[in-house]
Amino acid sequence: MRKITIAIDGYSSTGKSTVAKRLAKALGYVYVDTGAMYRAVTLFALRNGYVGGAEDNFDALVASLSEIDLRFRPNAETGQSDIYLNGENVEREIRTLEVSKYVSQVATLEAVRHKLVEMQQKMGAEKGLVMDGRDIGTVVFPDAELKIFMTASPETRAQRRFDELRQRGEQVTFDEVLKNVRQRDHIDSTRKVSPLQKAEEAIEFDNSNLGLEEQFEAIHNYALDVISGQ
Ligand code: DC
Repeated sequence: MRKITIAIDGYSSTGKSTVAKRLAKALGYVYVDTGAMYRAVTLFALRNGYVGGAEDNFDALVASLSEIDLRFRPNAETGQSDIYLNGENVEREIRTLEVSKYVSQVATLEAVRHKLVEMQQKMGAEKGLVMDGRDIGTVVFPDAELKIFMTASPETRAQRRFDELRQRGEQVTFDEVLKNVRQRDHIDSTRKVSPLQKAEEAIEFDNSNLGLEEQFEAIHNYALDVISGQ
């Protein structure tokens, strides 16, 4: 069977990665979470005081980009891939609200995007890939055979994120999470470099009222149609 590239883009907390992971598993494809890469760079920036302090220092962050080594390695326990920042597994730490607060700004930096897009294109050179993010169908793989653009209302997305953070023991309020979702929507879709936008040929998929199973079924069917050439 021919292998294709599947690009899944959309707003934050639309549940892209959950569906993308399942889809990759069902098809025997590689899954790449590009948001994790932007988050890992942001964690690096926070740890070095380039963001999160009295003043942001994006120039220093850009100057030290060559010191950042990012890799995905399989986790035998979860059966998924974890992201490593300079040899350290940071899969958990990159999901905190602290990282979410700064990641959109870090993702506006052209040098950061350049570095990460290049890595992503190398990872997908062989096809047989499901990649999720904001600019996969528009910039990273404009020739992807299947492009999905996921949407859901900000309230639905904030509720999902709130439940997830609470489950992990983070002391956050719903309003704080909703504010962060709205702020990230705004920054992600208005930034100059590769703003979040639907690729012309992408299938728009609103999952506000759909369960995981229904979402997976629908997207899996789209993929099977494309793979079989229908
Ligand atoms: O998917 P996520 O919420 O983990 O992504 C975190 C942030 O990274 C998001 O606010 C925007 C940025 N991002 C991006 O600009 N381009 C991508 N391909 C993926 C994520």
